[in-house]
Amino acid sequence: MTARSCGVIFENTDKLSGIEFVANLARELTLSTVSWNNGARLPSYSSPSIGDEAGAFLDELDLALQQIDSEPELVEVCLTRFIDRVPAEGMSIQRFSQADQSSPEAAMSLPNSRGWHSRGRCPLPPPLADNLAEVLRVAQVPKPVVVNRSVSQSRSWPYPEVRQAIVRALRKGEQVWGYLTVFNHLEDAEFDRESAWWVEAISQAVEQHLQRMEAERSATELGITTAEVLLRSLQQKDNVTYEHSLRVGELSLLLAKNLGCSFADQQMLYLGAILHDIGKLSIDGSILRKAGDLSDSDLERLREHPQLGHDLLKCFDSLAHILPIALFHHEQPDGGGYPLGLELDQIPWPARLVSVADSYDALTRDRPYRQGYSHERAMQILREGAGQQWDAEMVRALESASEAVESLETRAPLLRVALGGSGLP
Ligand SMILES: [Fe+2]
Repeated sequence: MTARSCGVIFENTDKLSGIEFVANLARELTLSTVSWNNGARLPSYSSPSIGDEAGAFLDELDLALQQIDSEPELVEVCLTRFIDRVPAEGMSIQRFSQADQSSPEAAMSLPNSRGWHSRGRCPLPPPLADNLAEVLRVAQVPKPVVVNRSVSQSRSWPYPEVRQAIVRALRKGEQVWGYLTVFNHLEDAEFDRESAWWVEAISQAVEQHLQRMEAERSATELGITTAEVLLRSLQQKDNVTYEHSLRVGELSLLLAKNLGCSFADQQMLYLGAILHDIGKLSIDGSILRKAGDLSDSDLERLREHPQLGHDLLKCFDSLAHILPIALFHHEQPDGGGYPLGLELDQIPWPARLVSVADSYDALTRDRPYRQGYSHERAMQILREGAGQQWDAEMVRALESASEAVESLETRAPLLRVALGGSGLP
């Protein structure tokens, strides 16, 4: 920031209200502040004043953020890693609710924000922090707005607790999602270009991963819609397989949670499990519903359902991540499964997990040729086959959740309900 740009503003200070003063000043500051990177959208990693270490830091941050699939966690990780990069007393990221995001103006007009995350000492509580961003008109510019002493010492400055600040609007697509605010220099010095560079860099990291998560959410929504259509077809074709699929979905989700799987993996496993037998859509109904013994040719045809399911699901990009479950859920660690006869380490772990859930449900349900086994008997059979027919680790996971497994109830068949409405398992 230059003294010249501030001096121009101060000439008319007493003729303006505090809000007008700050808004006018913000426009000036923005113009002077954004010039430090020549309007470039991305800060340059090779900036001589920043150095290669910054690039390494941001690459590492990017890797960490790629593992994250929730907005609060994203914000927390960014603040935790960022707090030492700028000599500030505190910093915050405040989010707006969906209803606030219809436009930057709408976002700016609301006095309260939902979702407040902070580190260090932040002198303004959420409503005032929102107000600070509002009067600085931060939502109207794509760069950080810097406030230094030349501004905050004015009589019209409405926030005496704030001596220095850098504020940047965070966007998801075209809409304002929230604000990143850095408060007060630690040494009571002025925030310089390097501090503004870091605010820009971290803001872009947040925005990039907000966009990524949004894209993933859209893909999940599409996957759910596709799965609903496929499941309805399965229900009409063979209700027994349909209900079995729903129970295997519930059980697989329980195992996934018990194993500490990530949110994304839980979703993948649930979708994969409820569609694991979708290849049976291509099997003749008379074979699926046959009450007596199946002929060799019937069995041969039935054993094609993993490949048929794989071939059907691969038509949908949004379900590409569950293909291994459909194709490999009848493989066995000892190589005795089908269709490929893979051995333990060759079988993708989601397929090994669903295989155990699939078998537990098959064992405990009545069949035309036998009554369903009790929970205890089914668990004993799975234990005896652990390491050969089923992955021992997955069988242990089932055992450790034994009580919950026994009392598991199938939820509503609509996936959107089962997944918690917003895609949350
Ligand atoms: Fe199957």
